[in-house]
Amino acid sequence: MKDKLEALLDQALSELAQASTEEGVQELRVKYLGKKGELTSVMKGLGAFTPEERPVIGQVVNTVKGKLEEAFEVRGGEIREVVKSARLSAERIDVTLPGRRRSLGSKHPITLVTEEITSIFGALGFAVAEGPEIELDFYNFEALNLPKDHPARDMQDTFYFGESVLLRTHTSPVQIRTMLKQPPPVRIIAPGTVYRCDSDATHSPMFHQVEGLMVDKGITFGDLKGILTLFISQLFGSDIGVRLRPSFFPFTEPSAEVDIACVICRGKGCRVCKETGWLEILGAGMVDPEVYRHVGYDSELYTGFAFGMGIERIAMLKYGIADMRLLFENDLRFLKQF
Ligand code: DAH
Repeated sequence: MKDKLEALLDQALSELAQASTEEGVQELRVKYLGKKGELTSVMKGLGAFTPEERPVIGQVVNTVKGKLEEAFEVRGGEIREVVKSARLSAERIDVTLPGRRRSLGSKHPITLVTEEITSIFGALGFAVAEGPEIELDFYNFEALNLPKDHPARDMQDTFYFGESVLLRTHTSPVQIRTMLKQPPPVRIIAPGTVYRCDSDATHSPMFHQVEGLMVDKGITFGDLKGILTLFISQLFGSDIGVRLRPSFFPFTEPSAEVDIACVICRGKGCRVCKETGWLEILGAGMVDPEVYRHVGYDSELYTGFAFGMGIERIAMLKYGIADMRLLFENDLRFLKQF
C-alpha cells in the first residue's frame, strides 16, 4: 500500500512538472486531490484494513497529501510568475522614447487686435459694451440719423430679414442702446461682428468693428483728437504720423476721418497707400444733437464724441496681411504665425 501511494506521488509530481498553465495545475489537483480523485479513493479504501494497520497507512496518506498540496502550491506560484513576467515584458514602456507633442493653438489675429484695442481704451476708463448682431432698423439706422430715405443707407449694403429686422451693418447701434440704458457720463467701446453685402480682397460679408463713445459735460473735439492720437500711438508706435481730415457721417457733426502715415513706406508713397503716404483707419466726430434727441439726452448740457474702425483693416496694417480673406480661411500655416 505504501509503495502504491509513493508511486502515485511520483506520478503526480512528474505530471505536475509537465503542467505549464494554471488551468493544467488545477486539473491535476482535481485528478489527485478532488472528491473523486485518486488519493481520495485510496483513503476511502482504508476501511478494508485492520485497526492496527489503519493509523500507519493513514499517516502515509496524510504525508503524501501534504507533499502533493505543497507541490501544487509551488508549481502554481511558478506558473503565475512566468505569466506575470511575460505580461510585464509585453507591456513594457520605453520611458526614454521622446514624447508626442500636442500642437498648441494660438489666438486669431482678429482676437489679438481686439484685445489690444480693448486694453488700450480700458486703461483710459472705457468699459466694453455689447449689442445684438440681429438688429432693428431703429438702432442700426433711424436713431443714428439715417432716416428711411437717407442716401447713406445705400453705402451700407444691408442684409434684411424683413421690413425692420436686419444684420447690423456697423457697431454704432451699441451707442444708441447704451445711451438709452444709462444717463451721462458714458465712456464705452463696443467691439463686435458686423455684416454687409460685399465681398472681394478687401471686403468680407462678415467683418469686425470697434465703436467708441464718450459723452459728458464739456467734452470737445480736442478730447476726441487727444484720445484717438494717444490710442494710435499705443497701437502703432509713438512715432507714427496722424492726421484728421474733414468728412461726413449722419450721426456726427463735425465729422473726421483719421489717417496714419503709411506703415509700409512710412509716408513716402507706395502701392498700399496708393502713393498718398496715408492710410485711413477710422471715422469719428462729435455726436450729432439729432442722435441725443433719439435717446433723450439734453444736447445743451452734454457733448461727446464717437468713433468707429474696422478691426480687419487694423490687423492687416499691423501684421502686413495683403488679402483680407486670409483672416477667414483658417489655414493653420497662416494662423500659426501669430
Ligand atoms: N459706423 C461707421 C461705419 O460703419 C463708422 C463710424 C464713423 C462710427 C464715425 C462712428 C463715427 O461712431 O463717429 O462706417
